[in-house]
Amino acid sequence: MTKTWSPDSWRSRNALQMPSYPDQAAVDAVEARLRGYPPLVFAGEARKLKRVLAQAAQGKAFLLQGGDCAESFAEFHPDNIRDMFRVLLQMAVVLTYGAACPVVKVGRMAGQFAKPRSGDTETIDGVTLPSYRGDMINAMDFTPEARIPDPARLEQGYNQAAATLNLLRAFAQGGYADLHKVHQWNLSFVADSPSGERYRDLADRLDETLAFMNACGVTSNTTPQIRETDFFTSHEALLLNYEQSMTRVDSTSGDWYDTSAHMLWVGDRTRQLDGAHLEFMRGIANPVGVKVGPTMQADELIRLIDLLNPEDEAGRLTLIVRMGADRVEIDLPPLIQAVRREGRTVVWACDPMHANTIKSSNGYKTRPVDKILEEVRGFFAVHKAEGSHAGGVHFEMTGQDVTECVGGEQAITEADLSARYHTHCDPRLNAKQALELAFLISEALKEGRSVDMDYATSSA
Ligand code: PEP
Ligand code: CO
Repeated sequence: MTKTWSPDSWRSRNALQMPSYPDQAAVDAVEARLRGYPPLVFAGEARKLKRVLAQAAQGKAFLLQGGDCAESFAEFHPDNIRDMFRVLLQMAVVLTYGAACPVVKVGRMAGQFAKPRSGDTETIDGVTLPSYRGDMINAMDFTPEARIPDPARLEQGYNQAAATLNLLRAFAQGGYADLHKVHQWNLSFVADSPSGERYRDLADRLDETLAFMNACGVTSNTTPQIRETDFFTSHEALLLNYEQSMTRVDSTSGDWYDTSAHMLWVGDRTRQLDGAHLEFMRGIANPVGVKVGPTMQADELIRLIDLLNPEDEAGRLTLIVRMGADRVEIDLPPLIQAVRREGRTVVWACDPMHANTIKSSNGYKTRPVDKILEEVRGFFAVHKAEGSHAGGVHFEMTGQDVTECVGGEQAITEADLSARYHTHCDPRLNAKQALELAFLISEALKEGRSVDMDYATSSA
């Protein structure tokens, strides 16, 4: 294994899923400009996230990571950012109550623009074109021109990420995230929900707690923690030339940080031990994640941990498990056992989205909400049986009322999918579905990570 690392050492490795640009000189020029742009996040913030993730590794905090599968240039709008932020906050309050510990909020936001694809090409009505790879690479329109990778999109992605992050910081620190406000939104959700009764108990108890705190003088005016929150950003580190351009030495620690986001993760398709993506990730000091799909073997996982977290630093590495509702209870236990045997510290998070994707009979990529819940339930059950900590969840979701995942209390059917199917990549939970799941997971957490989470859909 090569010992020396530099921000460009990944270039001597095999880099899967990267676009090949027709004009290399144009790419070089964009990279040079990006290297001179301001960092989007600070090293100190990434270190703060690492500290709270270290708590999650020990079961003393819970990670909520969520957002779009793929952010898009077309849907760049303050209302969309606000709605995503709002639903994540709502979920976090509900989960905080259930977990009785801090919930670490990490958006798949402000940089989640590049997508790995299973196929290099896409065929529609006999016409074959290169796949769409996310707005930071090419465009979704099904024309040959749109599918040519364009390096100007790297800069547009950076600019959109900067503006998104600016608004998120204002929301998080400027009073919008006030706990009382978030709680009021949750009360309206419960009032409007067909099985509101089920959630009312939890909402009422939160109400009482806030009233009690108020009576004790713990209010928005006296206590910053009530009116402000920490919100972190993350995305898949897929486009290594972009990530390299954003990687800078931190003057405080002398370490390299990728300043494009607080946390970066490597996808299930690019986590080869000798590949470019892990080579890049091992050298940055940010907290990092790796998607762990059903093909991951225990010895491979340990070698991956050796590579990314040789010092066994708590909070450095989050394993984002995405096995599928049917596989998680079979494939996860040997991985947990290996990690324990080797004495390694990781955050175990559950991504119940990516291995539960199906094609509807009318041709839409969708995910059944009950399968999503089933995978979370399986994940919790395995951790309970193994005596390890279920450290968090990772969702693809939106603050909008889309129809992309089937089921939930709205009982979205396959026939409904066409109504508001807007995703640029994978199907997302809509705001209601996401919040329903948060309530159900919270109940389970509250019952001491009990697995008794039978999900009553009105369609069932
Ligand atoms: C994703 O998170 O959008 C993704 C592509 O996930 P995975 O790498 O787990 O397939
Ligand atoms: Co996805």
